[in-house]
Amino acid sequence: MKRLSIFVSGNGTNLQRIAEYFLEDYDTRIVNVVCNNPKAYAIERAKKLRIPVKMVGKQEFNSAAFVKEMQDLGIDLIVLAGFLWKIPEELVKAFPNKIVNIHPALLPKYGGKGFYGEHVHEAVVAAKEPYSGITVHYVNELYDSGEIIMQAQVRLDEKETPDSLAAKIHKLEQAYFPVAIDYVLRSQN
Ligand code: GRF
Repeated sequence: MKRLSIFVSGNGTNLQRIAEYFLEDYDTRIVNVVCNNPKAYAIERAKKLRIPVKMVGKQEFNSAAFVKEMQDLGIDLIVLAGFLWKIPEELVKAFPNKIVNIHPALLPKYGGKGFYGEHVHEAVVAAKEPYSGITVHYVNELYDSGEIIMQAQVRLDEKETPDSLAAKIHKLEQAYFPVAIDYVLRSQN
């Protein structure tokens, strides 16, 4: 049985899609959702999906006790699905190649602190990039800089706007993130 923990901060569309994808996979279980934002709609989604939600504040999230709690839960893979805090070094060390993130751009460009959500698409459109896309990558102690697992791309149209690009990227996330997670789980020893 592979045990997943999904970290969220926002709407939770990736959480929703991942939960639906693994619904029929009886070897994979989403053990909990970890959330740092009491206003996140992802909390409502987790409740409807009957997945326990653990709310965290900054202090607890950066504590050794939180690392131990995740280890005691026997988590095989931590999935960052729109989670906006940097992952503490101790947690990265305790879960080597067991934390993955999705970034809504083709890293290494348009990544790092401040590049999240709309800010990413605004920068890509302003730079008139011919392509954008998603990157699923392992998480290390820096923002958006771990080993890349997979990327998928889309072309930008002449009249692309940040909103229209966000919609295209969202489709890629929904299509590929669960598959990338499945691939990582199957490649674990
Ligand atoms: C997505 O755009 C994802 O690429 C980024 O944060 C957003 C999360 O959206 N990491 P949601 O909360 O899963 O709807």
